[in-house]
Amino acid sequence: MIIKPQWSILTVGDGDLSFSRSLFSHFNPHKLTATVLDSVDELTHKYGNDNLAFLKQNDCEVITEFDVTRSESIDQLSPCYDVVIFQFPLVPNFSSQQQFIQQTQFDDIKLSVNTLNRRLLRLFLKHSFNSLLSESGAQLAYISSKDVKPYIEWDIEYSLTQGLKTQISDIHFVGSTPFDIKQLPGYKIRNVDRDKHVKDTESLTYVWTTRDNRQAAFERIPSLTPPPELFGENGCDICHAGPFITEAERHNHLVGKKHKRMAEYDEQWRNYLTWSRC
Ligand SMILES: C[S@@+](CC[C@H](N)C(=O)[O-])C[C@H]1O[C@@H](n2cnc3c(N)ncnc32)[C@H](O)[C@@H]1O
Repeated sequence: MIIKPQWSILTVGDGDLSFSRSLFSHFNPHKLTATVLDSVDELTHKYGNDNLAFLKQNDCEVITEFDVTRSESIDQLSPCYDVVIFQFPLVPNFSSQQQFIQQTQFDDIKLSVNTLNRRLLRLFLKHSFNSLLSESGAQLAYISSKDVKPYIEWDIEYSLTQGLKTQISDIHFVGSTPFDIKQLPGYKIRNVDRDKHVKDTESLTYVWTTRDNRQAAFERIPSLTPPPELFGENGCDICHAGPFITEAERHNHLVGKKHKRMAEYDEQWRNYLTWSRC
């Protein structure tokens, strides 16, 4: 993960704050604001409050009950950051079937856990570029995520910013780099709800910037692997598959379980985008 000492950094959804603490200790950024979805009591109950106390002692702003999908949370901050980072995002588990229905069904629109996570990340990117990143700064948003199912089925590279209009300019996914936890001693990747340390499976940090900053992003992050190639009519863009050489290859892909599942998510997502207009 590329972090420059002159940057101002905002972390989002930082479970136990160990990522922010390690970032502060090992990268020495100009400014660091750390945010968590939990309240102070929830955070302390799940993980203790050592990291919170450490960050406060070192004059880092820490905001609890910060929900990146809600404007009320976003409005607490000003657009002064160079990079906004969301490590291993995941919507919290549902406490009941009723809560699941409440969060995934709006009018005629039905989301699934897959598309609910896409919504979380779309709003993270939208709010980052509209309200959190400084116009004169590096203009970067990072999401780290595991390179395995179910996360790779969120189509992080292409689905999140589809048709997303921001106040400044188009947002571009510029590529990904391997996420190396060894850069961040003390960082424990947390489970969404429990005090469990998640296995360090292979993970990627995905990077977005604005149209005008694309070249600068490649210069700042030379290790970026460009987005996966899409093949349009010669492949399947929903699954990033192709090019298909024969009709039989195309047919076998289209009747396969993976494609059917991805096509269902894609349809659900497009319906949601049309309905939500955001
Ligand atoms: C798998 S945990 C990862 C926690 C931490 N980022 C880490 O790397 O250890 C997913 C995190 O996403 C956070 N999250 C889920 N929905 C959120 C939202 N709407 N706003 C902010 N954070 C959210 C959860 O609170 C949880 O801490």
